[in-house]
Amino acid sequence: MSTAKRVAGEAAAELVEDGMRLGLGTGSTVAYFLDALAARGLDVAGVPTSEATATRCRELGIRLLDVATTDALDLAVDGADELDAGLELTKGGGGALLREKVVAALADRFVVIATRDKLVDRLGDTFPVPVEVVPFALGPVGRVLTERGFELTERTDAEGRSYRTDNGNAILDARMPAGIADPAVTDVALALIPGVAAHGLFLDLATEALLGDDEGGLLRR
Ligand code: 5RP
Repeated sequence: MSTAKRVAGEAAAELVEDGMRLGLGTGSTVAYFLDALAARGLDVAGVPTSEATATRCRELGIRLLDVATTDALDLAVDGADELDAGLELTKGGGGALLREKVVAALADRFVVIATRDKLVDRLGDTFPVPVEVVPFALGPVGRVLTERGFELTERTDAEGRSYRTDNGNAILDARMPAGIADPAVTDVALALIPGVAAHGLFLDLATEALLGDDEGGLLRR
């Protein structure tokens, strides 16, 4: 039980209004949001960003929308691994980055819920950038990232096997030892590597942040 995550998740649930179409993020902070949302008993529906979130929504009775037939969302709520003062994010610690980015881009309003200690001066300072890679391209993508100065760790599952996302892809966690000097340049450079399906830099997407702390406080950004 995390007070900081609960405070952020509950504050986000208060933003939801009857009839809204939602983007439903992934992770332990979002779990508090989903619980608080279900408790409100509103008539809402949402696009889940992972199979785990879809399963939890079914358990809680939150109606699901098919992204294929959803042209826009009123509000997306999701966690983050890092955020900076300009609300730029690193995401993907839970492996759901590709669907999370698709859903965030569909939303008129994208609220990040996180603990206050995830605020950083510069993206990449505390968390690597997750890079989702089509398995066929793991070798070539790994070589390109290494040549560009990233230190790589291929993500593994609990049994030590190569991790697979809900999309069947692998993840390389890419750390830049000197930090990410220009996230906008890195954003485009990573996206252009053949075989990269998505990466965890989320720029110009978040519209606000709700940051909880362990004393029950909430910082709004
Ligand atoms: C999943 C994510 C999560 O939102 C991020 O990892 C934060 O998770 P948590 O709320 O459990 O700290 O990006 O892909």
